[in-house]
Amino acid sequence: MPKLVRSGRPPANPFTPSYGSDPVAFVGRETLIDDVLAGLENGPGDPNRSTVFTGPRGSGKTVLLRRIEQEARQIGWVPVAVAALPGMLDRIVERIRVEAAEFLAPPPRGRITSLTVQGTGIGREAIEAPLLSWQTRMGTLLDELAAHNVGLLITIDEIDPGLPELSTLGNDFQFFVGEKRQIAIVMAGLPTRVYQAFTARSTSFLRRSFHRQLEPLRLADAKAVLRQTVESSGRHITQGALTRAATAAHGLPFLVQLIGYHTWRQTANDTITADDVTAGVDAAEDDQREMLVETTLREVSPTDLAFLRAMAQDDGESVLRDIAARMGVTSQYAGTYRLRLIRQGLITPRGRGRIVFALPFLKEWLRDEGRIG
Ligand SMILES: Nc1ncnc2c1ncn2[C@@H]1O[C@H](COP(=O)(O)OP(=O)(O)O)[C@@H](O)[C@H]1O
Ligand SMILES: [Mg+2]
Repeated sequence: MPKLVRSGRPPANPFTPSYGSDPVAFVGRETLIDDVLAGLENGPGDPNRSTVFTGPRGSGKTVLLRRIEQEARQIGWVPVAVAALPGMLDRIVERIRVEAAEFLAPPPRGRITSLTVQGTGIGREAIEAPLLSWQTRMGTLLDELAAHNVGLLITIDEIDPGLPELSTLGNDFQFFVGEKRQIAIVMAGLPTRVYQAFTARSTSFLRRSFHRQLEPLRLADAKAVLRQTVESSGRHITQGALTRAATAAHGLPFLVQLIGYHTWRQTANDTITADDVTAGVDAAEDDQREMLVETTLREVSPTDLAFLRAMAQDDGESVLRDIAARMGVTSQYAGTYRLRLIRQGLITPRGRGRIVFALPFLKEWLRDEGRIG
C-alpha cells in the first residue's frame, strides 16, 4: 500500500459506526453470501433463492444485503433494493426500470386520463398501467429480462410483519417460481419481526424461505476488521490493543466500528495501544447507550422489557426461576420470553437455566433507569 502523505491534516477516521454504511473491512459472512450466490447460479426452485436473514440491530444485515447485491450483479443478475414500507411493490417496479433500463423497452406511454382546462393544457398522466396487477406488470418485466438472460434479485430490508404487500409479494413470488422464472428474494429483519411474520398466515411464505441468523463475529474476525481498518489509514495497532477492543465489542459489528472509531481518535501516534483502547471504549459509552441500547429497547415488547428489568436486579448471572418469581409468572411463561430475548440477541444462555445480558451496557442502562424512574 502506498505510504500516506502526511499533510497538516490527519487522515480521516476510517471506521464507519453508522447503520448501513459499508465498512472498509468486511468479514465473517462468506458462507451466507456464497449460499445465496450458489442459489442464483443453480436454478429456479433452489431454496436459497428465497432467504431471510435475522439478527439484532447492528449485526450487519443491511450491509450484508448490499454485498449480496454487488456480487449478484457480477454474475449477471439485476439487484433491486427496497425496504418493507407501504408502496414497496410499486417501488420494486420503479427500481427495476432504473436498474435494468438497458434491457427494457421504454415504459408504456401515459394515457390521457382527464381533460383539464387549466388555461389551455390537456392533463396527461404518465401512469404506468396502474390497473394491471403487480403479478402482470412483473411478468412483463421478467419476460424482457429473460430475453437478455438476466435474473432479478429483490432484496427487502427491515421486514415488517404488518405490511400487507409482503403477502402479495410472497404469493406472486411462488407463482413466478412455479413458472421457472429467474427470480430470487433475499430479506433481512429483526428476529422478533421476522418470527411474527412467520406465524402470520398472510406471510407464511416466509416460513418456506431459508432462514439464516447473523451470528456474532468470531474474535479473530473482529480483530481482523480492526487491524485492516486501522492499517487502511496508514497507522498500526498492537496485538494487545486488538484483543482488548475486539473483546469489548462482543462480536457485534456495529460495536467493532464504534469502538474502533473512538479508539482511533484517542491518539495522533502512528501506533494505537491498549491504553488508547481503554480510553476509546470509555468514549464510546455514550454513543453506545444512545445508538444501540436505547434504540434496541424501543423495539422490544413490554413483557420483554419486564423480563430484562427483572434480570437487571442480579449482579452476575440470572436464574430463570428467580426471574419468573419477580415477574409473578410461571417459569414456563418466562421461558418463552427467555427464548424470544435470546433470538433478539439481548441475552445469552449460560446453561442450566442461567442467562446473562448479551448487549454491553444493557444492564447498566436498566439499573440507571430504575434509579431515575
Ligand atoms: N461483516 C462486517 N464486518 C465489518 N463491519 C461490519 C460488518 N457488518 C456490518 N458492519 C458494520 O456494522 C454496522 C452495522 O451494520 P448494519 O448493516 O447497519 O447493521 P443492521 O442492519 O443489522 O442494523 C455498520 O457500521 C457496518 O459498517
Ligand atoms: Mg439495517
